[in-house]
Amino acid sequence: MKKVSRRRFLKQAGQAGLAVAATSALGRFAIAQTQRVTRVVIDSNRQISEINPHLFGSFLEQLGRAIYEGIYEPGSKFADADGLRTDVMKEIHDLGVPIIRWPGGNFVSGYHWLDGVGPKKNRPTVLDRAWNTTETNQFGTNEFITWARKVGTEPLFGLNFGTGTAEDAAALVEYCNVEKGTKWSELRRSHGYEQPHNVKFWCVGNEMDGPWQIGHMEARDYGIKAADAARQMRAVDPSVKLVACGSSGPFMPTYITWDRTVLEQCYEDVDGISLHRYWGNTDETGHDSSKYLAMNLAMDRQIEEIVAVCDSVRAQKRSGKQLFLSFDEWNVWYRARNGDAVNGHRKQAPHLLEEPYNLEDALLVGGLANSLMRHSDRVKVACLAQLVNVIAPIMTNENGILRNTIFYPYAWALKYGRGRALNIQPEGPSYEVATLGKPIEDIGLAVPGFGQVQYLDVMATLQPEQKTATIFVLNRDLENEQELELNWHDLTPSRVIGFETITGNDLKALNTFSDSEEGGAAGGGRAVGRVEDEREAAGAVVFGSDAFSVRTGTREPGLWCRQCSGTVNVFLRTLCFS
Ligand code: AHR
Repeated sequence: MKKVSRRRFLKQAGQAGLAVAATSALGRFAIAQTQRVTRVVIDSNRQISEINPHLFGSFLEQLGRAIYEGIYEPGSKFADADGLRTDVMKEIHDLGVPIIRWPGGNFVSGYHWLDGVGPKKNRPTVLDRAWNTTETNQFGTNEFITWARKVGTEPLFGLNFGTGTAEDAAALVEYCNVEKGTKWSELRRSHGYEQPHNVKFWCVGNEMDGPWQIGHMEARDYGIKAADAARQMRAVDPSVKLVACGSSGPFMPTYITWDRTVLEQCYEDVDGISLHRYWGNTDETGHDSSKYLAMNLAMDRQIEEIVAVCDSVRAQKRSGKQLFLSFDEWNVWYRARNGDAVNGHRKQAPHLLEEPYNLEDALLVGGLANSLMRHSDRVKVACLAQLVNVIAPIMTNENGILRNTIFYPYAWALKYGRGRALNIQPEGPSYEVATLGKPIEDIGLAVPGFGQVQYLDVMATLQPEQKTATIFVLNRDLENEQELELNWHDLTPSRVIGFETITGNDLKALNTFSDSEEGGAAGGGRAVGRVEDEREAAGAVVFGSDAFSVRTGTREPGLWCRQCSGTVNVFLRTLCFS
């Protein structure tokens, strides 16, 4: 074991580049001594973009137990006077989720917003045809706004473009955003909400290209309807930001053509276009974890392809306007995707889409966060889909909360993925992902592989006001240690103020309520260690889900990660310097 003095470590970190090593499978500590070096240059002037505060938003669909039993549960011991779960609100407030999309998703395409406003006793119980679920409408527009204000998040409203009309959409904008004196604004006031809700962000429909969608349309028809609705909505409130419904993903046979055709009709009337994508370690990756951990590159590619379409329509139209991208559904989702996991059997708040997340899913989610930051010049809104109980980082039961593994990379992205995204041009060893198989979606078309994939996926952000920089590293190497060399071009950090790592010896390990000591938030909380103390920061803290070993610092300068045991050598890590 090689020791490096603390003084020398800081010098390395600050001036000559910092080697960050994962350790060998035997659990030895090591300052990287391999030839496996990835080099990055950190130059504060090489900026991709200021990261939009809405880059790490999320999504709550009126689906399964996301709302009912998730955030709204009047009978719960955690409920406040509005029936909102205070434990969940605190968790989301503390996470600092900046924007949350609601109420769908597929649900929204059959949703009548008028069913969900006014006195609760008068609201109809209806059949939600998207998920074959009984919807009581006890939680609707005003309840969502109340909840959003309490947790400190911005609402992103989805509009019903399935059974709903452009007039319905404009009426909802009027209900929410006009102060008074009109039919719909007075209705809101009669419901007890004198002040307008001022909802700025609107998704103009959901996945209207998908045959599974209620009211599924042809691209041109959708584009014409979107343009009409957008004009009507802007007539009501010119300040709204409108996101056209883009393709449901590259697996769609109509991918790209849909986006182009839609934008040809509505480019000048909208502000952005949506992207959706779910990943899984499935036939697409050949159930091969090394391929799976490269799948965030599919997100990079998808973003670049949709940017290309937007900009080509822009050129075609000689438009001065540039659209932003709203990646408003992204996550891992492949297990709870069929049969009873997606069929509510007409029950109320059934257990739907309750995906269990393991270590490798968390690693990929971290990689996906890197991809979003890399494209923060065009992606201005993005939503981890979803937030509570449904394909979610946070699960609830009657006793409290469980943090799924993906909670951690999402929390770190929220905490550190801010300020300036830097263009750091990593150069390092790679492995080949030549082909990919068929995606999980039935109508799915396979996409090409990535060729050479670097073992380390690295991103950096700079927070000039705080005088801090953060490095995000996904190590995809399942076998060997990898080394990262940070070359500071114009900055000299003086110390490491924190770092967080998720790793372990079992890629399939997950968090469960029964594993957690207290059956609640402790399950996740116990595993997390943000290191405030410089000496500790220079030591080693490894943590993960409950199922992983949790080891705290050796206080050995320069050593960052202690491998638990076994053969897995992957990790996801953030390092924060000041
Ligand atoms: O997030 C789950 C579902 O995935 C959404 O309802 C839909 O938009 C997407 O297909």
